[in-house]
Formats: sequence, C-alpha cells, structure tokens
Amino acid sequence: TATPLMLGLESSCDDTAAALVRGREVLASVVVGQSGLHAAFGGVVPEIAARAHAERLDLCVSQALQQAGVTLDEVDAIAVTAGPGLIGGVLSGVMTAKGLAAGTGKPLVGVNHLAGHALTPRLTDDLAFPYLMLLVSGGHCQFLVVHGPEDFTRLGGTIDDAPGEAFDKTARLLGLPQPGGPAVEAEAAQGDPARFRFPRPLLDRPGCDLSFSGLKTALLRERDRLVATQGGLFRRDRADLCAGFQAAVRDVLAEKTRRAVALYLTEAPAAPALAVAGGVAANGALREALRSVCDEAGLRFTAPPLALCTDNAAMIAYAGGALLMNGTRHDMTLAARPRWPL
Ligand code: KG4
Ligand code: ZN
Repeated sequence: TATPLMLGLESSCDDTAAALVRGREVLASVVVGQSGLHAAFGGVVPEIAARAHAERLDLCVSQALQQAGVTLDEVDAIAVTAGPGLIGGVLSGVMTAKGLAAGTGKPLVGVNHLAGHALTPRLTDDLAFPYLMLLVSGGHCQFLVVHGPEDFTRLGGTIDDAPGEAFDKTARLLGLPQPGGPAVEAEAAQGDPARFRFPRPLLDRPGCDLSFSGLKTALLRERDRLVATQGGLFRRDRADLCAGFQAAVRDVLAEKTRRAVALYLTEAPAAPALAVAGGVAANGALREALRSVCDEAGLRFTAPPLALCTDNAAMIAYAGGALLMNGTRHDMTLAARPRWPL
C-alpha cells in the first residue's frame, strides 16, 4: 500500500496550523500565530484563542492545499490534535476535522499533541525506536522513552511550571520583551552566572521530576533586594540575573537528563539517542549542556529544525500517518480531551 497523504490540523494552544505530509515529505505547513491577539492580556486568553482558531482553520487548510498543489480529494486521511490543550481550541480543530471527514468520507485520526512533538525527530532524522525524548517548551517539560508511535514511557516531568514559562516570567520581572527565552538568553550572554547563586530545585530528590517555580521566586527576591538597596536595576544586574537564572535551568535539566539517560540505557537500546524538542530547545547553553551529557553517555544527540520544534501541524499529520499505518482510526465519537497524558 502507498504511503498515505495526510492533512493535519493543530489548534490546541495559540497557533492555528494545517499541513500536508506524505511519509517524511512535508508538502505544506501553514502556521498562523495569535500573539498579537493576546499581547495586551499577558498570556493566552482561551476564549479569544478558540474564536480565532474557529475563524482561521478553514483558511489554513485551503492555504496548505494550495501550497502543496493538491486537492482535498487527493488527501487520504485527516489527522487532528484531539488534546491535550485549551479545550475551546481543541474542539475547534476536532469539529473542523470531523466536518472534513464527514464531507469527504476520508478516515479521521485523533492525535495526542505530545505524541506529535515526540515523534517529530523521526520526520527529519533516521532515529530508531526506542529513543529518549526531552520535551521542553512554554507548556511542557517531560522525559519520554519513545518505543513506537503509540508506545511511550514517561520517566518524569515538571511538577509546576514549564521552563519556557519560567524564561517568560523572568523576562517580565526584568522588563525584557516577550517571548522571554531569546531575550533572557541574549542578556545572559553578557552576564556573570556566578554572581547570583539560584537554587537547583529537586536535585536532592531521586528521579527525573523537575520544578521551576521556586527559581522564579528566588529571582523575584533578588530583584526586589537590588531595587530596595540601590533604587533600581543596572544593566549589569539584569545581565547577571539572567545568567544566573539560565545557568540554574541548564544545570537542573542537564542533571535530570543524566538520570533519564541512565534509566533509558537499562533498556539496552540498539542505537541510543536523545532527541529534544520544544521552543526552549533553541537555547544554546542548554543544547551545549545536553550535548555533553550525550557525549559522556555515548548517546547521539538530535533536535528537529526549530520550525518543527514549536507548535505546527506537520507533526500532527506525520504522527497521524504513523497511527493510520498502525491501523488506528477514529469516528465521529472522537472526543476533544483537555488533559491527555501519554
Ligand atoms: O514550543 P513553543 O514554541 O510553544 C509552546 O510552549 O507550546 O515554546 C515557546 C517557549 C517560550 O516560553 C519561549 O520563551 C521559549 O520557548 N524559548 C526559549 C528560547 N526560545 C524560545 N527559551 C529559552 N531560550 C531560548 N532561546
Ligand atoms: Zn506544543
């Protein structure tokens, strides 16, 4: 049987996306962000997001079809993020996908958004199962062993904030622009990471769970202390605070990765590898630290190109294709699930 041409839809957070993918070939990937709609509110407003998704999904689908130069008739199946995420947005996507499936008679495949992220490294790289996956973004932080398209073992994850969220909050506390990650990384490059010694949460506890909310509190305390004693923050202070914060995040993620690697290696994988994905995987200091953890332990280190690391529909179409070939199909009872652990 030929490799199916998949139409994928994604609308679980603040990006509306549609893509056409056949096997590992991405024919089109359209992503329309909503940051402008939410900027005034200091975070994603679920109602605004859901309405924008509902308005834009059809347009994203037509654009993707046009870019790929195919018609809806030529599509073999429709894949859609069915969770986890903001329920209004997930519902918009699932309803749109059901409409397309009902109208064309094509199979429908509901995809877990996290599975989409976790399978993406295989879209651009010859990566054998099982591989270790670190998902680090504004919304997620977890270690997974990926055994197959529908077979994951979760080794641990954050018990509070995601690291991207911590970068964004740090930027807000220091008056830096959003998204905070790139801004904090640029400041950190000018700073002294040794001036402020921030906590390395949960390193004293066994296992791969992580915590980032205490780090944010420690940063807030240092900022307020500086403001109280010297009347404000100097450029030097801002850079040093960012450098100290980034070093703490890097150290915690590197040490927990070391532990996750040890657990993963007990499975004696034939071609041991660590893949990272998510927006925070763009951080140079973190990448360097993860690369050296891999070098020490004899793992290959890989990361998908950034456009596939952040939210997109190509990953949903690709994962949906893998599920379809596994024999997975859904019908009109497919539910939108705000919570859906792997
Ligand atoms: O995967 P993503 O685009 O969206 C979701 O969270 O789903 O990740 C966005 C997050 C933001 O919190 C952003 O600040 C962070 O990734 N980020 C970074 C960097 N670039 C983006 N964090 C640290 N360093 C960076 N260079
Ligand atoms: Zn995501």
